[in-house]
Amino acid sequence: MTDAKPTAARPTVFDELLQKIQSRDVCVGVVGLGYVGLPLALTFCESRLAVLGFDVDPKKVEHLHAGRSYLEHIDSGRVQTAVAEKRLAATNDFDRLAEVDVVIVAVPTPLTRHREPDMRFVESTTLEIKKRLRRGQLVILESTTYPGTTDELVLSQLLESGLKLGEDFFLAFSPEREDPGNPNFETASIPKVVGGVDAASGRLSQAVYECAIQRVVPVASARTAEAVKLTENIFRAVNIALVNELKVVFDAMDIDVWEVLDAAATKPFGFMKFSPGPGLGGHCIPIDPFYLTWKAREYGLSTRFIELAGEINVTMPRYVVDKLQAALNARGQALKNANVLLLGVAYKKNVDDSRESPAFPLLDLLRKRGANVEYHDPHVPSLPQTRAWSHLRPMQNHELTPALIQQQDAVLIATDHDGVDYDLIREHARLIIDSRGVYRKPSANVVKA
Ligand SMILES: NC(=O)c1ccc[n+]([C@@H]2O[C@H](COP(=O)([O-])OP(=O)(O)OC[C@H]3O[C@@H](n4cnc5c(N)ncnc54)[C@H](O)[C@@H]3O)[C@@H](O)[C@H]2O)c1
Repeated sequence: MTDAKPTAARPTVFDELLQKIQSRDVCVGVVGLGYVGLPLALTFCESRLAVLGFDVDPKKVEHLHAGRSYLEHIDSGRVQTAVAEKRLAATNDFDRLAEVDVVIVAVPTPLTRHREPDMRFVESTTLEIKKRLRRGQLVILESTTYPGTTDELVLSQLLESGLKLGEDFFLAFSPEREDPGNPNFETASIPKVVGGVDAASGRLSQAVYECAIQRVVPVASARTAEAVKLTENIFRAVNIALVNELKVVFDAMDIDVWEVLDAAATKPFGFMKFSPGPGLGGHCIPIDPFYLTWKAREYGLSTRFIELAGEINVTMPRYVVDKLQAALNARGQALKNANVLLLGVAYKKNVDDSRESPAFPLLDLLRKRGANVEYHDPHVPSLPQTRAWSHLRPMQNHELTPALIQQQDAVLIATDHDGVDYDLIREHARLIIDSRGVYRKPSANVVKA
């Protein structure tokens, strides 16, 4: 971060924008109206700011104008209110970027097939912004990314507009901490970290979020803010790998890892509970750590914890399917031609998101070993074909009935959604492979995996 005070050339634009923000007289543009962008846009609307959302997907724009939410955990009533009060509008016309004072970017940051950062969405959005960048605009990147994205990649493109950072326009990074399905937190109550590429950008960004978010945590720079997000997700990836490793070791010793973790969690300090599972899932934890791995190579450094955590976590689906196969074998049955019901295909409990779900490698392994697999997930009516798993056919949800359960040679619990009748499953299933610790008491037909 450079000097903390606006320079002599900067005050007019800076002061004007700060004043506009503080009097809530700004229009906030949110580019990318997905799991991050939509709740953020609504949170600003609910704080009496005008929001113009941008998305390349015309269906999302249509849904919003009709007052419909397309995300299960976002109530359509919130969209209807924001639209009716004329605070929320959406468009796929990027020329309208010129209308907004603040541009917040929440587009995807996946990995390429070679597991390197795929910056296509950030790059194309930055290009759209650059084409319309005008004096008095603040750009904030929220997509999770490696340290240096904002002040190297994004800044260099925006400077091609001929405008000057800190005098004409402002640029910052603020990581998103959405936890879809978590009833205890919403966008407004999750503290928001923010770091400017320069001091003026940091101050303006802080002011924007303070309009809508209860606690804003400023840090020294955009790259610090980028590092904060990666640190949080690497922390999760490594700790999940640790409990997954413990699960395998304790199982071999005939110790129930879930009982161990519950008991360890009674320690009131120095321990934080993570839960084992059938593998990592979601749009963040399996992906984000490798953004740092990639960037660290530029500095001749390796990220061994991240690599090791990745190695352990990707072996989990195989471990679970091996346990299933061994359990069938112990009953004199083969996995080939066995009927297996996969219970839960969302990547975590109580969400409708199947992106990067361990359900895909589980399905793949079960199919390759000859099993007939169907699934039940109350949150996911159909499982689409994805680019990474294009050889798996699209599937539909099956209603959970005693008859369906009785037809199965095994039920594999991959996601522990609330609201599923686990007693019904235990009553009717011949064999249950429980990869989430749903059943705590030993039962003849339950194998923990
Ligand atoms: N989902 C989460 O819980 C979560 C949490 C924290 C951070 N993040 C990060 O936030 C970012 C967005 O993630 P998400 O889960 O909201 O993704 P998403 O796929 O739900 O939403 C992204 C949206 O961007 C749109 N889009 C794609 N390219 C675009 C473009 N060029 N211009 C405008 N819109 C475009 C897509 O149509 C989609 O609606 C990612 O970097 C992700 O890592 C996600």
